[in-house]
Amino acid sequence: MAKKKKETLTGAFGHPIGNDLNSVTAGPRGPVLMQDVHLLEKLSHFDRERIPERVVHAKGAGAYGYFEVTADVTKYTRAAFLSKVGKKTDVFARFSTVGGEKGSADAERDPRGFALKFYTEEGNYDMTGNNTPVFFIRDPLKFPDFIHTQKRDPATNLKSPTMAWDFWSLTPESIHQVTILFSDRGTPATFRNMNGYSSHTYKWYNAKGDYFWVQYHFKTDQGIRNLTGPEAAAMCGKDPDHATRDLHDAIARGEYPSWTLEMQILTPKQAEKFGWDIFDITKVWPHKEVPPITVGKLVLNRNPENYFAEVEQAAFNPSNLVPGIGVSPDKMLQGRLFSYHDTHLHRLGPNYHLIPVNQPKNAPEKSYQRDGAMRTDHNGGGGPNYWPNSFGGPAPDNTSIEPPIPLDGQGGRHEFAHKNDDFVQPGNLYRHVMTEQDRANLVSNILGSLGQTPKPIQLRQCALFYKADADYGTRVAKGLGLDLTKVKTLASMTQEERVAATPVK
Ligand code: NDP
Ligand code: HEM
Repeated sequence: MAKKKKETLTGAFGHPIGNDLNSVTAGPRGPVLMQDVHLLEKLSHFDRERIPERVVHAKGAGAYGYFEVTADVTKYTRAAFLSKVGKKTDVFARFSTVGGEKGSADAERDPRGFALKFYTEEGNYDMTGNNTPVFFIRDPLKFPDFIHTQKRDPATNLKSPTMAWDFWSLTPESIHQVTILFSDRGTPATFRNMNGYSSHTYKWYNAKGDYFWVQYHFKTDQGIRNLTGPEAAAMCGKDPDHATRDLHDAIARGEYPSWTLEMQILTPKQAEKFGWDIFDITKVWPHKEVPPITVGKLVLNRNPENYFAEVEQAAFNPSNLVPGIGVSPDKMLQGRLFSYHDTHLHRLGPNYHLIPVNQPKNAPEKSYQRDGAMRTDHNGGGGPNYWPNSFGGPAPDNTSIEPPIPLDGQGGRHEFAHKNDDFVQPGNLYRHVMTEQDRANLVSNILGSLGQTPKPIQLRQCALFYKADADYGTRVAKGLGLDLTKVKTLASMTQEERVAATPVK
């Protein structure tokens, strides 16, 4: 803890406090007097110390640093912070686990959040990604249900492998992310030793109005390092805060972690002919088909001074965009555009953009938004609070308007057209990317969790593994002692038939 020079203790409104050890009482053994306003203020502030924790990603660690551009990308984007090789922009980063509470262990099997806030001269840009390039679902309607399965059973208040595997086995598009999650990448050794991905496709557009579809990959310069299942389980008990500690201590030692930003970029024409649905977050863009280009470097070099002020109150939002960067029609991303601002209003209040870590410090707000709880700045002073006005207030500038994209079709609840491709990429991951050791660890990690669920769920899920890769399904089925013929039969059915054939009693 930092040592401070001697100062007189005061109350919240600056009055000096003469004694902070003894409450005011009627005589040395008498009851406490109502007039001890210092005691009342201290207790009532304490009573309100907690704000709601994040509904997901509650446990996390943050740090400041910068992003430096290392390649000319002006033909792809007009974003000012990406406009010049060598240009640096201040950044705040927060890494997190997803399902656990604020005090949960850093080594739990879970995706890791990888959230970045760039304080650009055109306003804050947030890249709120994960350490996995894909996700479990591809429609935002499913998100609250999915997250309920990652939290606690409503009856027992225990984590429930049954809820998790029931949902995944009923949601076949989850198989790619489930395969990554149960590989050792589901338990990174530290936050410094993992990659960060946008996972979604975003839009970049240049000064001429040409647009491109892009995906971000922040590749760790520390190298990928993971914990095995048993190492992670041991770490949860030994040091539940190991990754928070590691990030803090590395930066305090002057060992600044860094990541190289690589982008995958497709022109709209290339996207039309592309074999994968680029708005389906359960899919990656194979590197051979879209080779990534190196764009910049992210370096973290300063620890926060106060966790609550800077990390707990940090608020990231995929809809914090700057000119040159836009969203794609990815349905999940569209859902996220609503959800983050909405949750921040609930968690932090309507003026959360005034909290220093969230302020657009390099492009101060000039708007007609006024008032509300905790409006702690000058609130627009005596200037006009409406637009248009004749008093020289800030005016819109149409040069920051985004180029349009073509959209058509029938408004309706559409399913993804490419739904039968869900097993190809996880199969390739298992067969071509993983080593034999990776596969052995994957199967063992799955057995430890899926083994705790009812048999019909095990059978249903094994059929999905089998559809991704016969060896994958066979090894899990054997490990669980399941009838392989049954698994193969289930794998040959449609999802509807499979679910009907595996009722849970
Ligand atoms: P490549 O061989 O070109 O790339 C494989 C990628 O897989 C590398 O980026 C590597 O990351 C990553 N990787 C290695 N082990 C694992 C693991 N256990 N879990 C998740 N990722 C891992 O292949 P393709 O581009 O053709 O993709 C094949 C498969 O690789 C995909 O289906 C996907 O599952 C996975 N992958 C692909 C990515 C992409 O954007 N194309 C990104 C990440 C994963 P690293 O370089 O950091 O070691
Ligand atoms: C945090 C919603 C999908 C990455 C959150 C929070 C909500 C939320 C409500 C809490 C925010 C806060 O309290 O500050 C959703 C919804 C999703 C979705 C509705 C889908 C429809 C995703 C995906 C990713 C992601 C696909 C990654 C690609 C994150 C990260 C955080 C977060 C990194 C933590 C940010 C921080 O460090 O403060 N999400 N999420 N989420 N989400 Fe999502």
